[in-house]
Amino acid sequence: MRLIRTKDYDEMSRRAAGLIAAQVIMKPTSVLGLATGSSPVGTYQNLIEWCHSGDVSFRNVKTVNLDEYVGLDAEHEQSYAKFMHVNLFDHIDIDPANTNIPDGMASQTEEECARYDALIQSLGGIDLQLLGLGPNGHIGFNEPEEIFEKGTHRVSLTQATIQANKRFFENEAAVPRYALTMGIRDIMQARRVVMVVSGAGKAEILKQAFFGPVTPSVPASILQFHPDFTLVADEEALKCL
Ligand code: GLP
Repeated sequence: MRLIRTKDYDEMSRRAAGLIAAQVIMKPTSVLGLATGSSPVGTYQNLIEWCHSGDVSFRNVKTVNLDEYVGLDAEHEQSYAKFMHVNLFDHIDIDPANTNIPDGMASQTEEECARYDALIQSLGGIDLQLLGLGPNGHIGFNEPEEIFEKGTHRVSLTQATIQANKRFFENEAAVPRYALTMGIRDIMQARRVVMVVSGAGKAEILKQAFFGPVTPSVPASILQFHPDFTLVADEEALKCL
């Protein structure tokens, strides 16, 4: 694990964006695994700026997103599909046909999960996967479990996640109870993984995930075994170390 310690969220975002831009410049046909949440928003803002200034182009990039809520269509304000358009895709030169997100409206979820795993394989796997860290140690929507789930699957969101994400919805009852998420195998097979973590609220779980035992009860801890994992975290998030 490589640790990049930054002063604050802005520096974290710039450093993470630098890693992604370098990946795309070195391999313009990169497959990027993308994440939602407040943590990567600043990273995306830097990429948008550098795309506008002509320093990086996403014309030949393909993307696969980690997860989506079950029951929200792509136009729903809080769907992850919408999030990606608003926060990144609509502002860069990517071909929308090259962007992929699990379909939260699929009637046959098992088939949708199998399709998504096959899609990742058909793209040749993920070159760089960007991640945030859930307050309970989840990555994507891989919630604390007794085992590490391997492929894309449907999850019941934990009460902790519903609580954490209700800020984006009208009320708690409006938060979807299920999601589709890439599995731990999909994430671990990415050739490079970059995680962004910011703020004191993540300090305790960051310590448990990366300086404690590897266990499915803290899903992010598996990244300790990844051969090319970079954690980009600010001082507040690192304050328990
Ligand atoms: C959601 C997403 C995760 C994300 C997490 C943390 O539950 N499924 O991919 O990492 O939230 O979000 P934030 O960055 O807002 O703390």
